[in-house]
Amino acid sequence: MSLEGKTALVTGGSRGIGRAICLQLAARGATVGVNYVSNATAAEETLAAVTAAGGKGFVVGFDVADSAAVQKAVKESAADHDGIDILVNNAGITRDGLMARMKDADWDAVLDTNLKGAFTCSKAVMRGMMKKRWGRIINITSVIGFLGNGGQVNYAAAKAGLVGFSKSMARELATRQVTVNCVAPGYIVTDMTSDLSEDIQEMIKAQIPLGTLGTPEDVAGAVGYLASVESSYITGQTLHVNGGMYMGN
Ligand SMILES: NC(=O)c1ccc[n+]([C@@H]2O[C@H](COP(=O)([O-])OP(=O)(O)OC[C@H]3O[C@@H](n4cnc5c(N)ncnc54)[C@H](OP(=O)(O)O)[C@@H]3O)[C@@H](O)[C@H]2O)c1
Repeated sequence: MSLEGKTALVTGGSRGIGRAICLQLAARGATVGVNYVSNATAAEETLAAVTAAGGKGFVVGFDVADSAAVQKAVKESAADHDGIDILVNNAGITRDGLMARMKDADWDAVLDTNLKGAFTCSKAVMRGMMKKRWGRIINITSVIGFLGNGGQVNYAAAKAGLVGFSKSMARELATRQVTVNCVAPGYIVTDMTSDLSEDIQEMIKAQIPLGTLGTPEDVAGAVGYLASVESSYITGQTLHVNGGMYMGN
């Protein structure tokens, strides 16, 4: 299971699912780049947790939607750590609202971070992976990209878009042994879902065969597997981590 000698970059590694992914990859031996956009303190806390657990890492701040900033930060990180071997496109935001009232700015912000961000970061790391004839790109989509959700047309479009993006990139990079897969979490307890009322949470739980919301660690385990050597023959797939809420593909 060892990722010893590999370097991983986790966008949005400062909090929630991203933090758990950083800990998971570090526990497997990777040196982990903890990305954040505004919350440097949280990113430092993630790094402290990584090192406290005996792992290695570094903090790198940039906005995933800003191509120039991504290129610069990835270039510097890759130079310091002999390339980026594993990229987890995890940074994500929501700007919910019914379609009829949704502002262009809310559409753009969600598409820019969740979808364009995966494009900018993947583009920045792919050349190095292709040269090394090894790489893992893992995109964090969502059950909402498969089921849809009233009030989240922007988020559902971005997350569904990530699936087609991943399949296409998987085809482009396969000959160089770079795999591209998605992990699609269901409802996970993080800051993103913390403002759901008790009633809504109960309604959601009623739709989950396993009966509970998931944890960031549940998602991180799936990412750890897709980053590992054991998953070498898996590409263009989506691994659903949702307690059985959605069982299609
Ligand atoms: N929670 C769920 O139920 C759930 C379900 C399905 C899918 N997901 C997906 O899982 C991923 C993580 O979600 P989460 O619940 O852990 O979210 P979260 O707790 O709200 O954390 C979001 C993370 O993304 C970072 N981020 C936001 N915009 C960014 C940008 N433009 N550039 C770089 N980093 C940015 C944040 O950095 P700062 O700390 O600097 O703000 C933070 O680290 C997202 O893609 C989300 O859509 C979540």
